[in-house]
Amino acid sequence: MSRAPAPTLNLNGYTDLPPGKIAAVVTFLEMKARPRLRRLAPEPGRSLQRITDPARFKTLFRAIGQDWMWFSRLHLPDDALQAVIGHRLVESYALVQDGRDVGLLELDFRPKGECELSFLGLIPEGVGRGSGRFLMNEAIRRAFRNPIRRLFVHTCSLDHPDALSFYLRSGFTAYKRSIEVADDPRLKGFLPRDAAPRVPVIEGVETIRTRRSPARPRSGLAGKV
Ligand SMILES: CC(C)(COP(=O)(O)OP(=O)(O)OC[C@H]1O[C@@H](n2cnc3c(N)ncnc32)[C@H](O)[C@@H]1OP(=O)(O)O)[C@@H](O)C(=O)NCCC(=O)NCCS
Repeated sequence: MSRAPAPTLNLNGYTDLPPGKIAAVVTFLEMKARPRLRRLAPEPGRSLQRITDPARFKTLFRAIGQDWMWFSRLHLPDDALQAVIGHRLVESYALVQDGRDVGLLELDFRPKGECELSFLGLIPEGVGRGSGRFLMNEAIRRAFRNPIRRLFVHTCSLDHPDALSFYLRSGFTAYKRSIEVADDPRLKGFLPRDAAPRVPVIEGVETIRTRRSPARPRSGLAGKV
């Protein structure tokens, strides 16, 4: 018996998301050999420190990522986060400027023969002052001092609008694009309600119905439930 061909996934046009979800376009990038590092004038008072304390990590992660809807590490219990950032194949660094944590860099060597640049970011006041280039140069230098086949990273459309061009300028090549759907972290309580205000919170159907519940539902459909 011949099998019917698998239906082709057709994503052209709009795809509505269920209430409470957000979506982003993710671009995956890689570099297979160490490029020449871009020049950067030295800046006194800037250093990298290994970070293994979950509380310090979360504070920095929140300060950097709140505007960009970073939440993946915030809902991890401290012992689970400790297991990642303290792993012998994971290198998490705080960028310290004049005694203050202003940036984060994480290299994950757990994929065999490869390295993922899992986090690179600066607090809002640190952006556009050369610290991003400093972090990237350190990332490339530290990654390729190990015998890896490739360094890879992904960035999404919720990240800083210059992040993708920054990665391309740094020597990465884009090789794949995905759509990522997630629960809105502000509705789940992982981020404050006013985080990333350029992406408005859209109330779920349940919330709207609860708010309207004293009044008569306006449509027949709403009234059925
Ligand atoms: C992506 C990100 C790290 C880029 O950092 P940035 O601070 O904008 O980048 P920089 O200012 O260091 O670098 C930009 C360029 O300006 C130059 N520059 C800017 N100010 C400078 C200064 N004061 N001194 C020296 N160079 C400077 C850099 O050398 C660099 O030049 P190059 O790209 O030609 O080498 C930053 O936008 C960020 O952290 N965003 C928020 C988090 C995020 O979205 N991260 C990416 C997630 S995947």
